[in-house]
Amino acid sequence: MRTIDWVNGAVEIIDQTALPGELRVLRLHTVGELIAAIQSLAVRGAPALGVAGAFGVALAARVHQDDPAALAVAVQKIESARPTAVNLARGAQRAARLLPLGPDAVLAEACAVRDDEVAASHAMATRGADLVTELCGDRPRLLTHCNTGGLAAVVLGTALGVVGELHRRDRLAGVIASETRPLLQGARLTSWELTRWGIEHRVAVDSAGPFLMARGEVDAVILGADRICANGDVINKIGSYAHALGARRAGIPFLVVAPESTVDLDTAAGTEVEIEDRGAAEVTAHGDAVNPAFDITPHDLVTAIVTDRRVIRLDRGETTA
Ligand code: MRU
Repeated sequence: MRTIDWVNGAVEIIDQTALPGELRVLRLHTVGELIAAIQSLAVRGAPALGVAGAFGVALAARVHQDDPAALAVAVQKIESARPTAVNLARGAQRAARLLPLGPDAVLAEACAVRDDEVAASHAMATRGADLVTELCGDRPRLLTHCNTGGLAAVVLGTALGVVGELHRRDRLAGVIASETRPLLQGARLTSWELTRWGIEHRVAVDSAGPFLMARGEVDAVILGADRICANGDVINKIGSYAHALGARRAGIPFLVVAPESTVDLDTAAGTEVEIEDRGAAEVTAHGDAVNPAFDITPHDLVTAIVTDRRVIRLDRGETTA
C-alpha cells in the first residue's frame, strides 16, 4: 500500500496521526486540506513531503487554471507549509515548472516525482544494505531514529528500507527504534512498520541510545535526513545529533540514507537551514517549552551518506558536490 498517491482526482494518504491505532485513509481534495495534512503530520517524512508538494500543485492547477495570481499564491503556500525538509519545496517547484502546459502536464510530472521516489527507495535499500554489511559484518544490531519507512516515503522508505533489505537477506541481528519524542514517530510508526514486516525489534527512549552504544549493544546507527547540505551536514529529526555523538564515542558507523532529492547543494551548511519550531503544546501542558523539530549533525560525525545514486564516504574526505 502506498503512503501517498493520486487516486480518482484527489490525493490519498495514510493518516499517520491515527497510527498505530487505526489504518485510516484520507482523501484530500483541496490545497487547504493538503496543507493541513502536512502541518498536522498526517503526511510526513522528507520523500513523502516531496510527493505531497507535487500533488498539491496538481490540485492547485485544476482549481486555478484561469487565475495565475491565485495559482502562484497556492504554490507558495504549499512550498512553505513546513520549512525544513527540502523535498517539499523541491517537489512543488518541479511540478510547478509544468504549469504553462496545463493541469494534465502538471499531474503527469507529480506522478513522475512519486515514481522517482519509489525507484530511489529500492536503489537505497540495496546500496545501503551492501554498505552496512561491508562496514559492520554479518548480522549487525542497528539503531534507528524517527520513522524512515514506507510511511515517510511512498513505499519501502530510506534507512528503514535498508533495515528491511538486510532482514530479507537474513543479515540482521536486531533493531532498536528510538522512540522520537515528542510525537513518537519511532515508537508509533517505525514499530508499526517493523511489526508488519515481521522484523523483531525493541523501542528505546531517545536518551538511552548513546548509553546502549557505549555498552556495546549497537553496531551502527542508521537514519534518514530532511536535508543534506553541501558540506555534508545532516538535518534530521531532533535527537539525531545525540545519536551521532554517541556513535562517535562508541566508535561505530553513523549512516545516513536519503534520496538525491534531499541533497541540497544550494545550502552550504546546516546553520543556514530553518529548523522548524513546532511550539510548546506538543511537549508539555505544564509550562513553557522549546520544541525544535530537527537538529543538525555536523558532517565530521557522519561516516557515510547513501543515496539512490552513490555512497559518499565522508570519513574518507569525499564530498556531496
Ligand atoms: O517531522 P517528521 O516526522 O516529518 O520528520 C521526519 C524525519 O526526520 C525523517 O527522519 C526524515 O524525513 C527522513 S524520512 C525518510
